Amino acid sequence: STTPTLFTPLQIRNVTLRNRIIVSPMCQYSTAPSGPEIGALTDWHVATLGHYAIKGAALVFVEATSVQPNGRISPNCPGLWDDAQIEGLKRVANFVKSQGTLVGIQLAHAGRKSSTAAPWLSTMLGRKSKRAEKDIGGWPDEVKGPSGGDNQTWDGFFDSEQSRFWPPKALTTQEVKEIVQDFATAAERSVRAGVDVIEIHAAHGYLLHQFLSPISNRRTDEYGGSFENRTRLLFEVIEAIRNVIPTSTPLFLRISSTEFMEGTDLGKELGSWDVEDTIKVAIQLPALGVDLLDVSSGGNHPGQRIDGVNTKDYHVKIAGRIRNAVHANNLKLLIGAVGMITEAEQARDIVEQANTVTQSENGIHEEAKAAKEMTDTKDGKHPMADIVLVARQFLREPEWVLKVAWKLGVDVWWPSQFMRVATQL
Ligand code: FNR
Repeated sequence: STTPTLFTPLQIRNVTLRNRIIVSPMCQYSTAPSGPEIGALTDWHVATLGHYAIKGAALVFVEATSVQPNGRISPNCPGLWDDAQIEGLKRVANFVKSQGTLVGIQLAHAGRKSSTAAPWLSTMLGRKSKRAEKDIGGWPDEVKGPSGGDNQTWDGFFDSEQSRFWPPKALTTQEVKEIVQDFATAAERSVRAGVDVIEIHAAHGYLLHQFLSPISNRRTDEYGGSFENRTRLLFEVIEAIRNVIPTSTPLFLRISSTEFMEGTDLGKELGSWDVEDTIKVAIQLPALGVDLLDVSSGGNHPGQRIDGVNTKDYHVKIAGRIRNAVHANNLKLLIGAVGMITEAEQARDIVEQANTVTQSENGIHEEAKAAKEMTDTKDGKHPMADIVLVARQFLREPEWVLKVAWKLGVDVWWPSQFMRVATQL
């Protein structure tokens, strides 16, 4: 039998992924909140990201890494706003790459969702609020987003003691321009550290998403108002990064394809970011040198009403829809699927390029079949996505790639040190 597409290599610019399985970025809240090591990756990151590399992932992403000190989600999140932070990243990159795995970094700014406490820290300290106060390294007075928190309906976002977030101040136009520059400088530092792939984080209600959405962006300068103005910051960041990184370096973009606010009062009143908006952005990406759109969703407002959150593949269907729209325009943009991907057959079917509905031992994989039906073009050839990103399953099973390969009957690379087990599995 032929190798499933999932285990065929994929070349993007000058790098080759050995299969189509990527470790999705995951915050670890494990860097120093202050002092000379502030925001620098540590042994924790070498060990955790390193073990996914040992166990066969094609590409391992370093978590959301902030381009400015006040853009960190929490005081314990990593940054690349200073040259001193290059060394820690270099150590991670060296080890991951020594295992034949590529290393990526997700560059981010949390905007109005910055200065929160590491999830376990507020519980440990017995605090009701998830906000990071000054005593644990937070910056309550310096939380900034597209718009201030003073005159708006935030539905529990910032307005009570129990809120997770601080009321933000509005960034000045000049500050917005500095953020563009800081994304570019952080991208340069990433390349200097040996990173193979850069991803821009424009999802989950963080700064770039905040600018895209009419719910969080009420600006009246050139960065607010019309669709063109709300997408301006994102496109400026893409262009600034593409300008400073080598042509050989792939650039990915993670986006919240929808913020699931369509059905809500706030969404009806103000409008919201949806899949159609994402498609409008997607078709502009190839010309700007973005290679892959990583399709996520949500995170901009607690009132979101998530469609099908309990169904596997709920993002996968959206990814398939976007992929079809991109292909209908004859554009080359790879699409990444993420979210509740936990099983071998499921992952295989999402990216399978063979023109058949694949069979698993239990018959046709129902989820993938349903997803296929939703997005198949007339010739029925399109897979849902080109790669899969997986997060929580790697926390449960760092060796998930090897298990998937074994389940699908594919021989994959094992580290020489593990060969004895491989032959006896
Ligand atoms: C995440 N996720 C995430 N996403 C992102 O874009 N940047 C990040 O830094 C993080 N951090 C993070 C930490 C932890 C502990 C988890 C579990 C998740 C989201 C993640 O990348 C992924 O999109 C979702 O978890 C859905 O995929 P899974 O977990 O269903 O495979």
